[in-house]
Amino acid sequence: MSVSAALSSTPSYHLTSLPSTSPLSLRFSLSFRENNTRGRLFLSQKQSRVVVVRSQATTTPASSEAVKVTAVPSQMKAWVYGEYGGVDVLKFDSSVAVPDVKEDQVLVKVLAAALNPVDGKRRQGKFKATDSPLPTVPGYDVAGVVVKVGSEVKDFKVGDEVYGDVNEKALEGPKQFGSLAEYTAVEERLLAPKPKNLDFAEAASLPLAIETAYEGLERLGFSAGKSILVLNGSGGVGTLVIQLAKQVFGASRVAATSSTRNLELLKSLGADLAIDYTKENFEDLPEKFDVVYDAIGQCEKAVKAVKEGGSVVALTGAVTPPGFRFVVTSNGAVLRKLNPYLESGQVKPVVDPKAPFSFAQLAEAFSYLETNRATGKVVISPIP
Ligand SMILES: NC(=O)c1ccc[n+]([C@@H]2O[C@H](COP(=O)([O-])OP(=O)(O)OC[C@H]3O[C@@H](n4cnc5c(N)ncnc54)[C@H](OP(=O)(O)O)[C@@H]3O)[C@@H](O)[C@H]2O)c1
Repeated sequence: MSVSAALSSTPSYHLTSLPSTSPLSLRFSLSFRENNTRGRLFLSQKQSRVVVVRSQATTTPASSEAVKVTAVPSQMKAWVYGEYGGVDVLKFDSSVAVPDVKEDQVLVKVLAAALNPVDGKRRQGKFKATDSPLPTVPGYDVAGVVVKVGSEVKDFKVGDEVYGDVNEKALEGPKQFGSLAEYTAVEERLLAPKPKNLDFAEAASLPLAIETAYEGLERLGFSAGKSILVLNGSGGVGTLVIQLAKQVFGASRVAATSSTRNLELLKSLGADLAIDYTKENFEDLPEKFDVVYDAIGQCEKAVKAVKEGGSVVALTGAVTPPGFRFVVTSNGAVLRKLNPYLESGQVKPVVDPKAPFSFAQLAEAFSYLETNRATGKVVISPIP
């Protein structure tokens, strides 16, 4: 390497004179740094010429790993509540400790999150007996980038783009530090690679809702050639139940309920019959279904809409036999299984037209979700 090349390409350099071995020669060293490369040239001036007598250079791999791991701060911005209640208990805090990662966890730099009704119910203290201790950073759904990995993590490395529901059991001990923060620590088994065609906001809209949709259909024993009625086809879960029933399970016929304004959406998602619940009682229709997926809490009516021997999965509200309650389990393997359907566009995320809400608008986003009028998912992005 010539001195001029080193000088012309080095954004920083430092010249040091070294002890001379003879009165006729001068010795210098020139330290330089350029991008990932640091080096030192040992120079000697003999008469009118300067020559390089030795050079050293080390290049740090340009892996995002080193860069991103060292970039993780000790504190982060997050939304926190220290008592149960309405949206007014939510407080913005710019100095929450970044969570540690356990052996089987990765630390995710959160780029987008989504709200679920369970976030609101949890904040209201509806399952405080099985909740983690307060104060709570809420948030189940996340999409972001891995910035640190635990010692036993096998499937992810720093820099990977991931998505998932951070709480394996929705109602039993959900994490104290959820996804409505700059960083969240998550077990690798709960995550999957982010579908390549989706942005972070779209990816964050999916995990809890699509896992609920898929696992609920499995629990119903749903399979190709069967018919299904989806109650609340326009919400976060229902929009995905319609699509999965049709595209993944091979339903013979899909019917779904919503108010008048969402009927076209139901059809665009693959519903063969869109029922306006403001005008018709689905349980009074002559048509009966193999299964009903109840995502609104109308199990008593739902059991009247199934054929003899049919079944009803009830996500919420009182259960009337043969209906049964089901609670989602977060599972990255389900997301991995569904990624090809998402990447091919057969199954699409449905994000509410009012979203994304900014991180600063979290209370507004919660209030909107709690009107029970959201269409698809309420997403928070970017974060922070
Ligand atoms: N057990 C579990 O594991 C589990 C998992 C996920 C969710 N859940 C529960 O399941 C429920 C649905 O969740 P989600 O995220 O899909 O809710 P969501 O997105 O908040 O649902 C909002 C939708 O509900 C529709 N809706 C309101 N009243 C309706 C009615 N009478 N009939 C039909 N649709 C109606 C609204 O459509 P219109 O504006 O057209 O009325 C709106 O689009 C929630 O109670 C949630 O807590 C349980």
